[in-house]
Amino acid sequence: MKHLLSTADLSREDAIRILDTSEQMAATQDREIRKLPTLRGKTVVNLFFEDSTRTRISFEAAAKRLSADVINFSAKGSSVSKGESLKDTALTLQAMGADAVVIRHWASGAADRLAESSWMRGAVLNAGDGTHQHPTQALLDAYTMRKHLIGAESGPGAGIDGPTGNDLTGLTVGLVGDVLHSRVARSNIFLLHTLGAKVVLVSPPTLVPVGIGAWPVEVVHGLDAALETYDLDAIMMLRVQRERMSGGGNSFFPSPQEYTRLFGLDGDRMRRLPDHAIVMHPGPMNRGLEITAEAADSPRSVIVEQVSNGVAVRMAALYLLLAGEEGGE
Ligand code: NCD
Repeated sequence: MKHLLSTADLSREDAIRILDTSEQMAATQDREIRKLPTLRGKTVVNLFFEDSTRTRISFEAAAKRLSADVINFSAKGSSVSKGESLKDTALTLQAMGADAVVIRHWASGAADRLAESSWMRGAVLNAGDGTHQHPTQALLDAYTMRKHLIGAESGPGAGIDGPTGNDLTGLTVGLVGDVLHSRVARSNIFLLHTLGAKVVLVSPPTLVPVGIGAWPVEVVHGLDAALETYDLDAIMMLRVQRERMSGGGNSFFPSPQEYTRLFGLDGDRMRRLPDHAIVMHPGPMNRGLEITAEAADSPRSVIVEQVSNGVAVRMAALYLLLAGEEGGE
């Protein structure tokens, strides 16, 4: 593995290696001194062309805990706002000796473009490109599910044992809401499939991508129907991405109230999930639209834990791409 661009081309073996390494990284984070010397002397650049809170801070924390030097580059306030291209920006980073670039970009395909180019030699980690992919988010989600639902000794899913013990075989995961605009959904669909889980998309027909028939998913057009039909082990609420909906925001559904009525997770619906089921959301949440405070803040919610797991998973990804012996090919 030279880059981490998409979960669609991530092998089961590589995915499990990242999850296992994340577990080891998480264990080091309970120690009094959390910093490891592993990436001393390496430079990681966070190149963010689009807003981010969690992902940017998480990658920064991950790189710093591995002792890398971190340069944060945000497009706002940089020469990008003067029209500088991705190519010229990459050439500048190369000249500064970046060993890895973590890129978030509004254009689908931007991370692949950077990785394929000869503009820079370092590893490219996709931190979200348009509506396409966000692989570390899917990996942290899988990590969170594995921790809670597979062979756990305690917790809501204690006792569910996947046949192999280290993937997600046997789980049924519901992804609910704005699948169309969600790189989180796309990344999760492919990774969950690779790891053996069944994926159920719960979405209005207007927010399901064209070509969905070719994906390894089942589709249901209402949350009540999904709760009736499936025993969901994890339910992942997706943010309604109003900034990606051109034409005023509500053109994909009649009204926010209608959306909430058919697709929102509230306390009543949450109580219809199996007892061990966990409630997830990648953040940022639209509280009151796709999820109520009761569901988001309930003991079944692992939303805050997803964020802390993200640091361990990104440490693992950086480690495997920049220092891991097996990561060199
Ligand atoms: C997601 C993203 O930016 O793709 N957030 C995140 O990385 N935690 C999801 C979203 O914006 O809805």
